[in-house]
Amino acid sequence: MKVTEAEIVISAVSKKQYPNEGIPEIALAGRSNVGKSSFINKLINRKSLARTSSKPGKTQTLNFYKINESFFFVDVPGYGYAKVSKKEREKWGTMMEEYFQSRETLKAVVLITDIRHEPTKDDIQMYDFLKYYELPVMVVATKLDKVPKSKRPKHIKRTKQTLQMETDDVLLPFSSETGEGKDEAWRYIKQYI
Ligand code: GTP
Ligand code: MG
Repeated sequence: MKVTEAEIVISAVSKKQYPNEGIPEIALAGRSNVGKSSFINKLINRKSLARTSSKPGKTQTLNFYKINESFFFVDVPGYGYAKVSKKEREKWGTMMEEYFQSRETLKAVVLITDIRHEPTKDDIQMYDFLKYYELPVMVVATKLDKVPKSKRPKHIKRTKQTLQMETDDVLLPFSSETGEGKDEAWRYIKQYI
């Protein structure tokens, strides 16, 4: 996919701020610091349109990036960061539910996991949550560059098993460093935009 235009339209904290253009949306989901914003940047060939950080908790709002005037990537705050207060966690939960439960233009979700690690309880909960709302999900196991080739199949299998992924769901090994998996990611996304 050739991306000619990419711009942030709004950083939203509540429903009334979501764009109302009616174009399709692809949302990200995943643990804090796992590489959600980096995934977006890699796909659209922009180094830092979506802000990234080596510290968890960089993305705090729902960020709507309009791509080629035809669809949105929606970057979301991550979960599972231990240092977050109870109040902040509740705020996160409300914001996520409000978005994932009722957003009609949301067509599919890219759930990012870290290929090095077994999916956490939070990852499992997020996968089940998305399935419950009958949203198409692609699991992207990122940071592939950090796992030697010989060990990759084992890590991929573990991710699938721990999430108890449905057989029709795609698990895509990916790296924002090397761009591995990028073409496959676009192929999946194109079905929904
Ligand atoms: P929050 O917004 O805090 O939820 O984080 P995020 O999921 O958006 O993560 P972000 O994209 O900011 O990346 C976190 C860190 O991981 C950064 O230091 C990135 O450079 C690094 N990173 C992301 N993807 C990859 C990857 O594929 N390989 C490697 N080696 N590092 C990566
Ligand atoms: Mg982010």
